[in-house]
Amino acid sequence: MRRPFRWPRLLTPDGGGIAYGGDYNPDQWPEEVWDEDIELMRRAHVTTVALAIFSWARIEPAEGVWDFGWLDRIIGKLGDAGIAVDLSTATATAPLWLYEAHPEVLPRDRYGHVINPGSRQSWSPASPVFKDYALAMCRRLAERYGDHPAVTAWHVGNEYGWNNRHDYSDDAQAAFRTWCRARYGTVEALNDAWGTSFWSQHVASFDEVLLPRHMGGDSMVNPAQQLDFERFGNDMLLDFYRAERDAIEAICPGKPLTTNFMVSTDQCSMDYARWSDEVDFVSNDHYFHEGATHLDELACSDALMDGFSQGRPWYVMEHSPSAVQWKSLNVRKRAGELVRDSLAHVAFGADGVNFFQWRQSRSGAEAFHSAMVPHAGADSRVFREVCELGQLLTALSDAGIQGTELERADTAILFSAESEWATWSETLPTTKLAHFHDVRDWYRAFLDAGRRADVVPLRDDWSGYRTVVLPTVLVLDDADVRRLVRFAESGGTVVVGYATGLVDGCFRVGLGGYPGVGEGQLRDLLGVRSEECNIVSGEEPADGGTLDDPGTDDPGVVRLSDGSTSRLWQQVVTSLAPDAQVLARYEGPEAASWELDGTPAVIVHPYGDGRGVYVGCDLDVDDLARLIRRLPAADAGGDASLIHTRRVAPDGTVAFDFYLNRTAGPVALPAVGGERIVTHRCDVAPDGTATLRRNGLVVVRTAASAA
Ligand code: GLA
Ligand code: GLA
Repeated sequence: MRRPFRWPRLLTPDGGGIAYGGDYNPDQWPEEVWDEDIELMRRAHVTTVALAIFSWARIEPAEGVWDFGWLDRIIGKLGDAGIAVDLSTATATAPLWLYEAHPEVLPRDRYGHVINPGSRQSWSPASPVFKDYALAMCRRLAERYGDHPAVTAWHVGNEYGWNNRHDYSDDAQAAFRTWCRARYGTVEALNDAWGTSFWSQHVASFDEVLLPRHMGGDSMVNPAQQLDFERFGNDMLLDFYRAERDAIEAICPGKPLTTNFMVSTDQCSMDYARWSDEVDFVSNDHYFHEGATHLDELACSDALMDGFSQGRPWYVMEHSPSAVQWKSLNVRKRAGELVRDSLAHVAFGADGVNFFQWRQSRSGAEAFHSAMVPHAGADSRVFREVCELGQLLTALSDAGIQGTELERADTAILFSAESEWATWSETLPTTKLAHFHDVRDWYRAFLDAGRRADVVPLRDDWSGYRTVVLPTVLVLDDADVRRLVRFAESGGTVVVGYATGLVDGCFRVGLGGYPGVGEGQLRDLLGVRSEECNIVSGEEPADGGTLDDPGTDDPGVVRLSDGSTSRLWQQVVTSLAPDAQVLARYEGPEAASWELDGTPAVIVHPYGDGRGVYVGCDLDVDDLARLIRRLPAADAGGDASLIHTRRVAPDGTVAFDFYLNRTAGPVALPAVGGERIVTHRCDVAPDGTATLRRNGLVVVRTAASAA
């Protein structure tokens, strides 16, 4: 059951508009600074802040001693200035007195080491003691601020799982046994699911079920047990979130609640499709990837956020105004990039654009993380861009953007949290598999082909699309396969990647030839059967050979008859259905060296009114783009140097078209009608033709019927 969509009201005259602001940590500053903060927020058109995320020690300095005075004062000041508060439960990190009194709440790592206090989330989600304290805090805050007119939303926890995603404490051990009992009912069912006849892993009772703690050396964890441990950790944190949410809601039922996800293509460790059912509106913390993939990666992550929110608007809870401070190289944003990234999020359906954080810290671990008001103060490039962004968001709000919804693409790339977890297993033919990275590569390939795909959770309903793509969806159960078969029968195109459908939800390998899940139905749909996979290194030959003459080393790549290159995994297809059509085979000296010369690599197979497409190897992004253009259901595609999205009002009256420069150079804007609401880094020549500079974009409003 999904909770109904509820969106926070702002303190604007009609309660609407884009929520713009950031994490605000006034407790890091003397109160004299607060008035300047609010004056600058108004200058920047800030409409909302997220407050008190790490303030537990300030609110409850000693057990049972409460200090709400400072919080009363700052919420009052913000409300008076028309700035809405997204109030946190302050439970992401606990005060030291709590850890001293109750060291048993600390999580443990897989080696049994205690996770010490002093950072964030040094608590076990399975600890009943910690939960009691956290829920008491939630109730206190809800009682005190539930009716406050400036508090318009609740920010439950913060980035659940950032530091306690995998907890190996004794409380977690006990909870895992309870969880397994609930999942399997009988210990026989668990033994069957985990395949415990292997390595004497037979479990005689649920009291013998173990966490996958460190077992010494390179010894490998049972992958089914590991996959369940991932599910369990997700469920523990989700239970914790629900308990906090329900504690607040019992006292303050009238205000929308959210918790911020951590979705980017390098970081997505929860089953957020399930979390999305449990919030009133979904929100995300997205941190950019420097380099050429910056905008594409952002777009792919956002497409998945749109998938999680099922087309309704969503909220950027955090992104960085410029550099972060937690990588080895922390690249700043260039001129216009702050505005471009923020409006790119809006282009993909965000109605909230918020940063970490408002004022750059003077002390502590995040002093060198960028902020809306940098160390240099308001007289700074970053703050000027923050103000410029505020103006542009106001213009979009005035033009009626809020509540419009991202128009669907005709292709869905399917995302599966379980497959992401499964690809982390060290027991696979290679440890280099990464489901979300393959989703990202396909996503980028669609952009390169001048098209846009959506990213949709596997568990959701994607039957309305024309094409679905399954990149390294390692785990498919029988019901998933049946859905794919029905989709193809009724005219859909099912594109299946090389490492898709190898195991079921218990990490049991589908037999009879790969991809074997679904009792052979996936093979039938694709018209292929393969017996082995060939793994290569992706590296150039070390002994001076070249790609054309691999020398004596095993070649690190395999090439295909259409000029494509595979660098990791080639499925060795040994039989084809008679009506299957081969689009590309392995070919050339590398293929010959691996005894793959002539083996089918990319295959199209008619099925029902639709078809299956099997891509039996990994391919470079530009190879995938060429393949996408050749797919039977492909349309002509547009300009690959732009990202174009459209947001449409649910009643169809108005649409907003976003055109973003996807390249590092200038790009001509196509002639588009309508009213330009935003032009950012866009040059218009005397003849009216427009060019987008690097990081440039345009937003155009049209009546949808005319669009
Ligand atoms: C060792 C073990 C076997 C098996 C192989 C796999 O030789 O004795 O049980 O695990 O490694 O390579
Ligand atoms: C996370 C946290 C924030 C802050 C940022 C820094 O998203 O939620 O409190 O630490 O990272 O990038």
